[in-house]
Amino acid sequence: MKGLAMYDTYGKRSKAFKFLWIALGVVGTLLVVSQTQHGLPWPRRRAPLHASAIQAKCLANDFQPAPPADFYKRSHSDRFAPGTKPVLIKNARIWTGAHNGTEIIKGGIFLDGGIIREVGHISRGTLDKFRHKLVEYDAEGRWVTPGIVDLHSHIGDASSPELEGASGDDNSLNGPILPWLRSLDGLNTHDDSYNLSIAGGVTTSLVLPGSANAIGGQGFVIKLRRTAERSPTSLLLEPPFEVVGGHGPPRWRHMKHACGENPARVYRGTRMDTMWAWREAYAKARQIKQAQDAYCSRALRNKWEGLGEYPEDIQWEALVATLRGRVKVQTHCYEAVDLDDIVRLSNEFEFPIAAFHHASEAYLVPDVLKRAYGHPPAVAIFATNSRYKREAYRGSEFAPRILAENNLQVVMKSDHPVLNSRYLLYEAQQAFYYGLPENLAIASVTSTPAGIMGLDHRIGYIKGGWDADVVVWDSHPLALGATPTQVFIDGIAQLNSPHVVEKPKSFHTTPKVPNFDKEAKAAVKYEGLPPLEPKSTSSRVVLFANVNSVYIPGEEGVQELLRIKEGQESVVVVEEGKIACVGMYVSCVSAQIAEEAETIDLKGGSLSPGLVSFGSPLGLVHIEGEISTADGYIYDPLEAPVPKILGSDAVLVHAADGLEYGSRDSLLAYRSGVTKAITAPLNLGFVSGLGVSFSTGAAHRLEEGAVIQEVTALHVSIGHTGGTPSVSTQIAALRLLLLNPPKSEIGKWSEKVTQGTIPLVVEVHSADIIATLILLKKEVEAAKSADLKMTITGTSEAHMLAAEIAHADIGVIVNPVRPFPAVWESRRILPGPPLTRDTAIATLLKHNVTVGLGIQEKWDARNLAFDVAWAALEADGSIDKAQAIALGSTNVEKLLGVDVTTERAPELVARQGGDLLDMASKVVAVISPRKGLVHVL
Ligand SMILES: *[C@@H]1O[C@H](CO)[C@@H](O)[C@H](O)[C@H]1NC(C)=O
Ligand SMILES: *[C@@H]1O[C@H](CO)[C@@H](O)[C@H](O)[C@H]1NC(C)=O
Ligand SMILES: *[C@@H]1O[C@H](CO)[C@@H](O)[C@H](O)[C@H]1NC(C)=O
Repeated sequence: MKGLAMYDTYGKRSKAFKFLWIALGVVGTLLVVSQTQHGLPWPRRRAPLHASAIQAKCLANDFQPAPPADFYKRSHSDRFAPGTKPVLIKNARIWTGAHNGTEIIKGGIFLDGGIIREVGHISRGTLDKFRHKLVEYDAEGRWVTPGIVDLHSHIGDASSPELEGASGDDNSLNGPILPWLRSLDGLNTHDDSYNLSIAGGVTTSLVLPGSANAIGGQGFVIKLRRTAERSPTSLLLEPPFEVVGGHGPPRWRHMKHACGENPARVYRGTRMDTMWAWREAYAKARQIKQAQDAYCSRALRNKWEGLGEYPEDIQWEALVATLRGRVKVQTHCYEAVDLDDIVRLSNEFEFPIAAFHHASEAYLVPDVLKRAYGHPPAVAIFATNSRYKREAYRGSEFAPRILAENNLQVVMKSDHPVLNSRYLLYEAQQAFYYGLPENLAIASVTSTPAGIMGLDHRIGYIKGGWDADVVVWDSHPLALGATPTQVFIDGIAQLNSPHVVEKPKSFHTTPKVPNFDKEAKAAVKYEGLPPLEPKSTSSRVVLFANVNSVYIPGEEGVQELLRIKEGQESVVVVEEGKIACVGMYVSCVSAQIAEEAETIDLKGGSLSPGLVSFGSPLGLVHIEGEISTADGYIYDPLEAPVPKILGSDAVLVHAADGLEYGSRDSLLAYRSGVTKAITAPLNLGFVSGLGVSFSTGAAHRLEEGAVIQEVTALHVSIGHTGGTPSVSTQIAALRLLLLNPPKSEIGKWSEKVTQGTIPLVVEVHSADIIATLILLKKEVEAAKSADLKMTITGTSEAHMLAAEIAHADIGVIVNPVRPFPAVWESRRILPGPPLTRDTAIATLLKHNVTVGLGIQEKWDARNLAFDVAWAALEADGSIDKAQAIALGSTNVEKLLGVDVTTERAPELVARQGGDLLDMASKVVAVISPRKGLVHVL
């Protein structure tokens, strides 16, 4: 009978059942008592000993998860850490999440007992009462939001740095249907990501099993802060009683589903096989549920005769719970075909879907989602990470806004470590840039995912009674590079002496963003594949009006040619793709020009050099997951035999020979102002080959200017990726190549390296290997009496040797630009604000190292302007705009062997509404002297 009081507080349905339950329970108990008192043997047809427990169980089958009715009367949070002092955050500009994410309150937030107690005006009484132990935090007028909530993470399960013993705990390969597995069971508490993600404002993550299975297992919600107990269990937020024991109203559970390519690949099946696996599993769960319901209908009427045991099966228990509507089904699912399949499944077996994750085609089929059982699923997506496999090929940056326009809930997610969840807010910023309304963009990483997790009664909002998970930001949260100045989880400040960068004034208000209505419409019209090929202007003369600044590339990097004072209007006249005049309208525009010219109003915009992408296989592949869309793999001379026809190890591959033009990522890069790319042959081992510099906007290799420089540099990589022989073996091979070049193709090019004609570009992360390369460079230079041009790329640990790298005259392409300890050899990162004052980039620049920015995956090429702007912000005033632009343009070319002095015809990119360093601008044209034309985009 003890359980009764607890069940009292269930949702609405419980009231109706309560009376019945008391009546039945009392009758059952009396029966049991009277039987045993008379000392009679237990009659099979009468109520069993545990009858009341069974009846309670039967009644509870109908309860839906909900917080206890007295939840907001809690005196402190169940996650309260004793000893935590109350906190008053003063002078905040608070995005509360209320009113559809439109409510902003200026004032304070009072945290106590792990709970937000008061918001806005903090009462005198409170202040007086807590005066003695109150910790005050002055937000100085800054923006404050609820903690970031990540609806899709593998943090802890796919932990970083990746080590075989502890990183692969997110995918079981033991079958397509594994609803009995729990992500909690693999949660590594030593993942380096916890601290880093907290530093990005992430407070809560749903840790899901991987996507190798149709049903991968149960997901668990954790808060990221360290706990005194140090255990995975102590990280859990409202864990289900089925898992951790205890009782009360049922709590939400989570079940990972995955359709399409991943489970089909792992189990060598097809989409048809995966669907059957689901239907078989759900049919089994439904059988058990029906048997339970039949059993209960008799048990509740006390018809025990021949009833036997309550039917249940520990393996299928969680899937039965799914059919009872107590489990949030989180479904990894990309294409229209997959979404349609799962919606059919949900209707056949009558269970709702909480969210479709990845869902790259959801924006094309909103009506399919609206047909799902119960309610339309939310859609959890990346902002611009697409095209890595067929399923993701039609992904669109406009999906968030289109989904919102269709009244579907939008969540931005990390899939950590696929994207580093430290920058989950960046996903929301991009969604906002491409048209998701401000209120929904902030909600997409706070209140919306909190609701989809079933936890919005305590996280995702800044309201009295909610958990004290609060982030103070150094700028408007949707401004590029927004960084926490403090993060509270359960009322506990997470950052010790955080480093705060002062952001420009314009970063403190809602960022201006361009209009992309036309592009968003085209995305739907063309089913995700709108034409991207650039078109040239019809006129020979183009007049750019309202130009605020002009930057041009030169031998000494980027120079500022023009900067207009506020209120003045400047023009740039371009004739046949060449700048003819820069200045005031009256001095540049004759009557004839005025008549002939096509005018493009830049609305206070800017001209700057085309950016240059490096680091991904851009130009060598359309879809990474599809070998038939790529140049393909190359032989590694350090590994198994290279075919004889290639002269065994004599061969050296030219990336130029594998170029594929017109890929969507190339064209999107071009349309985002990244007009060139330098790509090396796709390297999985030691020697890569010869890089090439090419135009991202060209249609084919024979077009004028399609290849900018046939051979740029010799690329190798040294490290542990690809399972190559030891680092020392790789160094030995490189030493041999440079000191004793063989008489062969590879020898010919390594001689050019030692003569200093072309650079040697080495991909490397570990500081130890970088140190060895510095010594090797000296050794070779001494032996050959010539200066060797060396550039290192990757370089997660280069900041540790900044002075030595500068002294050795080695250039650095930092890649990834924002560091992450993905593997052991890249673990000693300099994380940057708020964890450290300096970033790796700023440190290298301070030592006068020539620095360029790289990207890792080709979809990211389009975001290079954001990367440049972000790096400049974090350099905190130590570099000017021209130097910042050089990081993504002239420096990259110089470091990778492009002869910038012979490049007499650099392209300029016209941005409307701002310059390259803010998120307000939009690329509208590319001026190409080489082609003698202007492309309008
Ligand atoms: C919430 O905000 C969005 C975007 O600003 C708007 O389209 C939608 O109608 C709002 N919903 C409600 C219920 O007010
Ligand atoms: C995380 O940060 C805390 C201090 O904020 C520190 O004590 C702890 O060692 C850090 N953990 C890791 C793995 O860096
Ligand atoms: C970097 O260059 C500047 C300007 O040439 C010079 O003043 C400064 O001392 C140099 N810094 C280092 C660490 O060499």
